[in-house]
Amino acid sequence: MNKADMFQSINRKGTYTTKYDDAKKKFGADDLLPLWVADMDLASPKCVQDAMQKRASHPLYGYTVYPSRYYDAIQNWMQKRFGWSIEKEWIVPCYGVVPSLNFAIHAYTKEGDAIIVQTPLYPPFVSSVKHKKRKVLDNTLVYENGTYHIDFEDFEAKAKEATLFLLCSPHNPTSRAWNKEELERLIEICLQENVLIVADEIHADVVYEKLHHSIGSFEKMMHKCVVLNAPSKTFNIAGLNTSYAIIPDTRLRHKYILEQDKSGITNENPFGIEALMSAYEEGDVWLDALKVHLQENIRYVKTFLETHGLPIKVVPTEATFLMWIDCRDMGLNHEELTHFFYHKAKLGLNDGMSFGDAGEGFMRLNIGTGKEVLVLAMQQLLHAFKANT
Ligand SMILES: Cc1ncc(COP(=O)(O)O)c(C=O)c1O
Repeated sequence: MNKADMFQSINRKGTYTTKYDDAKKKFGADDLLPLWVADMDLASPKCVQDAMQKRASHPLYGYTVYPSRYYDAIQNWMQKRFGWSIEKEWIVPCYGVVPSLNFAIHAYTKEGDAIIVQTPLYPPFVSSVKHKKRKVLDNTLVYENGTYHIDFEDFEAKAKEATLFLLCSPHNPTSRAWNKEELERLIEICLQENVLIVADEIHADVVYEKLHHSIGSFEKMMHKCVVLNAPSKTFNIAGLNTSYAIIPDTRLRHKYILEQDKSGITNENPFGIEALMSAYEEGDVWLDALKVHLQENIRYVKTFLETHGLPIKVVPTEATFLMWIDCRDMGLNHEELTHFFYHKAKLGLNDGMSFGDAGEGFMRLNIGTGKEVLVLAMQQLLHAFKANT
């Protein structure tokens, strides 16, 4: 299959897909292009499809164990993609990164403890903290000169009160891939103030011009961090509910495992295990091609908006297949902005406010689709602007 075919959009309507089949509920209309929830319209790599078909052809789908091949696949992936050498014992399989965030909050904090997050942010971070009656300390990211950065002074002040820091790296929705220097400063402060870091690195595989530095790969963090990851975003297998935590420190690991066990939910999913192994063993070439495709999509959207002089600025997309766009020059309030996108342009994007107040005036555009879908999306956007003026 050539590259053009590999990255064509597949209409998923009618396959019980959140992105398509839940669009009406979310946007109040079902005639819009769904460019929201964070999975892609692109087929998973052939190696994953083959592994699924092979497993499906065996007619029994009973309780399953994690084979050593599963752990090898994760170890090798961490080594070859991020230069991080991990031990097999550090890996704790789970059925989702969000569940792991919740287990970690339970494991390492108690009611009333303060937890740092950085908004605008993928909503389950803040809601998980609130649901567990912990205190949210928002080290709001600063948007300046068209890019986001961390307010370290504020972070340091908040770290004095905090027990835990939930780091999103790369960051969703701003698509920042944190530099080594930024991570080092965060680490210094957290070590000094005795704040544990739980890092959600689910988007680590899709970083464009930079390297992803796992928080766990910093020697100093060996006994002070938990890393959460999954092949789900990268290989478009989120429906298989397969993720893992990497916890180098034995005591922290046991605390985490206890919480996961207490939930009573077992998570050995035979398809998820096969998908992870095949993706991590054979998915490299596909992933590199995917990143080229996504970069072309990002360039296309950016160029289109600029060429047509539309009052929307693109925040530089350093990672993820999610573009964070600054619509504040449109001069609309939240309701007017979402109405414009959903009912005039007929585009189903995530609204910025759903990532916290700091997201007001922004929208999140999922470009994990075929170029042809984005061409259509940009045409619809342009027409909506023309009709509005
Ligand atoms: C930063 C981040 N973490 C976690 C998730 C969801 O992970 P899971 O489906 O494994 O719970 C997402 C999905 O969009 C995400 O963007």
